Amino acid sequence: MQEMIDIHCHLIPEFDDGPKSYDESLEMLRQAADQGIRQVFATSHFNEWIPAQIETEYFSKLAELREKTAAKNIQVTIHSGAEIFYHHYVENTVKTGKVTTLGNWGQYVLIEFPMFQMPEGAEDVLFRLTAEKYIPVIAHPERYAVIIDRPRRIENFIKFGGILQLNGGSVLGHFGKDIQKLALLLLENQWIHFIASDAHAPNGRTFILRKVYEQLKEKLPEEYLQNILFNHQKQIIDRLILEPVKLPEEDEKSGLFQQIKRRFKPSN
Ligand SMILES: [Fe+2]
Repeated sequence: MQEMIDIHCHLIPEFDDGPKSYDESLEMLRQAADQGIRQVFATSHFNEWIPAQIETEYFSKLAELREKTAAKNIQVTIHSGAEIFYHHYVENTVKTGKVTTLGNWGQYVLIEFPMFQMPEGAEDVLFRLTAEKYIPVIAHPERYAVIIDRPRRIENFIKFGGILQLNGGSVLGHFGKDIQKLALLLLENQWIHFIASDAHAPNGRTFILRKVYEQLKEKLPEEYLQNILFNHQKQIIDRLILEPVKLPEEDEKSGLFQQIKRRFKPSN
């Protein structure tokens, strides 16, 4: 893998639970460059209670970070973005420009769901977003407790127009064995559109795509890895449309979910 693009990371200093200074942000970007990540989307957390002026602060810090990155000659392009915490009127928040879409190009919306419960009306929100021609990108579905309890729920994200972004840390086992098993199974069945680092700091949760690639290259076809680490991300940058994966027929699906059941049995 020559070059990779990371669509989910927290890079803006003193903004969310990401880096605490520009120096930390720059250190993260150096680490990204070292592993061949040439473009990133700085997807800071955003929720419905954050005041609108926060967008101004976000973009001014982003501009400053871009300047410092160029001054230090770090070869990484930073696109804008937000990891929007689910709320009932996401499409309105996005439509009225209260929060940036990926690259601020008005197509791809990265959404995070609560860890422990699937909010009522989640499907409606996805439906309304797609009706407005947005493409919801579901952040790390493999980490949600409701999905781990009942993996078939992941189909609802896809049925309602979502495409799935898996965290690299899930593949490496950073969030436990069950999440790792589910992550691998979703990858083997090619339900995932993107792997991202969800990096937060230069130490601990940092950029890990090179490691993830090394881990997966014997397990998955090279072409699919190229798609989920570079080509699909490039399609966002080129403002092209990515389609949700085609869900398999019912009998094939039961095959997949049987596999999930089998893999989960020992720890459930
Ligand atoms: Fe995140």
